[in-house]
Amino acid sequence: KRLAVFASGNGSNFQSIAEAIKSGKLKAEICLVVCDREDAYVLERAKLENIDSFSFSAKNYSNKTEYESEILEKLRQYEIEFIILAGYMRLIGPTLLQKYSQRIVNIHPSLLPSFPGKDAIGQAFDAGVKETGVTVHYVDDGMDTGPVIAQKTVPILEGDTKDILQKRIQEMEHDLYPSVLQELCHKKLT
Ligand code: GRF
Repeated sequence: KRLAVFASGNGSNFQSIAEAIKSGKLKAEICLVVCDREDAYVLERAKLENIDSFSFSAKNYSNKTEYESEILEKLRQYEIEFIILAGYMRLIGPTLLQKYSQRIVNIHPSLLPSFPGKDAIGQAFDAGVKETGVTVHYVDDGMDTGPVIAQKTVPILEGDTKDILQKRIQEMEHDLYPSVLQELCHKKLT
């Protein structure tokens, strides 16, 4: 399958998907990276992997429909079949949702519906819960609200700092996302 990865920042999840493809664990291709920040490190990573990217700055457009139409045109050019959100810090609007219905997925660092939105790891840590986790879900028009595809629990241990917890969660993400994508791309999921 032909994937587009949407990201806004570091891109460690992009990297884990790229590695899974190189090792043959994930039979798919990242054909395009879409990024809403010109200075995001994920763009460097894409370059190093020889993957094309499209970056844009939302402030140069009058609204979401305008920049999503441009993204849609890119997706068409690259014949993209699935949109993989990996740290993309914007809500997806109707322009993309309509064309890619059931074909947009996101990864979120909590056990949804707990701790949606920003800083989910910090939210869980501050709440003092004993466990949190990682969720892969289909994307709808809400913030981290679409149907859940897969979840994995991550414990919060005594003596943890936010940084330690973040590292444990990210390791789980880097393992879970490629394997869920493999199932998704090969229709083992509905
Ligand atoms: C991840 O924790 C992901 O769950 C969340 O944003 C973070 C992105 O990290 N949606 P990275 O850019 O992939 O390193």
